[in-house]
Amino acid sequence: MNNDKAFTPFQLKNFQLRNRLGVAPMTRMSSIRDSVPRQDVLDFLGARAQNGAAIVYTEAIVTDYESSQGYPGQARMTTQRQIDTWRTVNETIHAADALSIMQMFHCGRMAWPEVNPAGRSLAPSRISVKQLNPLTGQPYPLADEMSVFDIRHVINGFIETAKGAVAAGFDGIEIHGAHGYLISQFLSAYSNQRSDEYGGTPERRYRFAHEVIEAVRQVVPQDRLLIFRISDWGVADMEVSLFGARDEYQTIIRYLSGEPIDAISVSTYDYSLKAFGTDKNMAQLTREASHLPIFICGKIYDRASAEEALLDADIALSGKSTLLNPHWFEDVRTGKTMAAYTSEEANIAYTETPLP
Ligand SMILES: Cc1cc2nc3c(=O)[nH]c(=O)nc-3n(C[C@H](O)[C@H](O)[C@H](O)COP(=O)(O)O)c2cc1C
Repeated sequence: MNNDKAFTPFQLKNFQLRNRLGVAPMTRMSSIRDSVPRQDVLDFLGARAQNGAAIVYTEAIVTDYESSQGYPGQARMTTQRQIDTWRTVNETIHAADALSIMQMFHCGRMAWPEVNPAGRSLAPSRISVKQLNPLTGQPYPLADEMSVFDIRHVINGFIETAKGAVAAGFDGIEIHGAHGYLISQFLSAYSNQRSDEYGGTPERRYRFAHEVIEAVRQVVPQDRLLIFRISDWGVADMEVSLFGARDEYQTIIRYLSGEPIDAISVSTYDYSLKAFGTDKNMAQLTREASHLPIFICGKIYDRASAEEALLDADIALSGKSTLLNPHWFEDVRTGKTMAAYTSEEANIAYTETPLP
């Protein structure tokens, strides 16, 4: 196997990355006051840059104060205090020669209305997931079907949050279109059964994502990155394939590839799994349909898995391994034998126990 791509530099638009490895976005639910995360949670990001990451992602930042929050303790990026806090995180990441990316999300029907100051929950269609909310043991609320007014209003939240990220000095902004949250809900016929211009054909289901990208790009300067994260799975009803078939997935990837974005970030459970009944993995299927740089994530935990994942992608992101092993980047470099961490082990992310 090719064994030396992970530590070769990569030119991502105007940014020269020192290697091909990064910290995946990870929600920590630690914000108590003012939607600002705990200091140790912020320090974790700088520490991973110091430990060798080329790219460091924030947790999913919530886009508005009304309907976007899906978990307690999520962070926001629209007040001066929030922006100033994140600016110091960026300074640390930049001083360590890494790139910082702010991921932003709206939970859609995966809502926790009590934590949204306006108590609303919104979705493309009035359909609940089957699974109970694992944090409450209760069903998710039945969301209101978004009106066109709601759609415009929610897009404003993405715009304002992107402006906050630009002001805070992030190198890039990622629109979270994966994991069965709002944008993903519009993309998938599993959750989008609208009969207006936002539902029906893949092109119409894509319209909301297009409008978010178009609006956000206008406030993200050309010298900063705009990235879109996509997945075929959602955090609820995990067995469901959100795109259902290769053709539909690749159609959406082709639409995305015509947008003014700088990379597509593909999220999987396991990068190596073949998808949609084909003999290709998700990165390969994405590459077939796109000329854009591709990030891949999912069970990349050591040098061999990183190198194999990078055969079909440009950047490999790792979640649980970067969370639990502060020396992960160095351990990958030296080829140390390591095992993949379990989701149970990663639950430390949601406690007040400081990470190693
Ligand atoms: C504690 C935790 C929090 C996560 N939060 C987010 C998130 O906010 N946004 C997101 O896109 N993915 C999130 N993920 C998914 C990761 O980004 C990644 O896709 C997943 O962990 C699979 O990669 P891994 O096998 O390297 O852990 C989270 C994962 C973990 C373990």
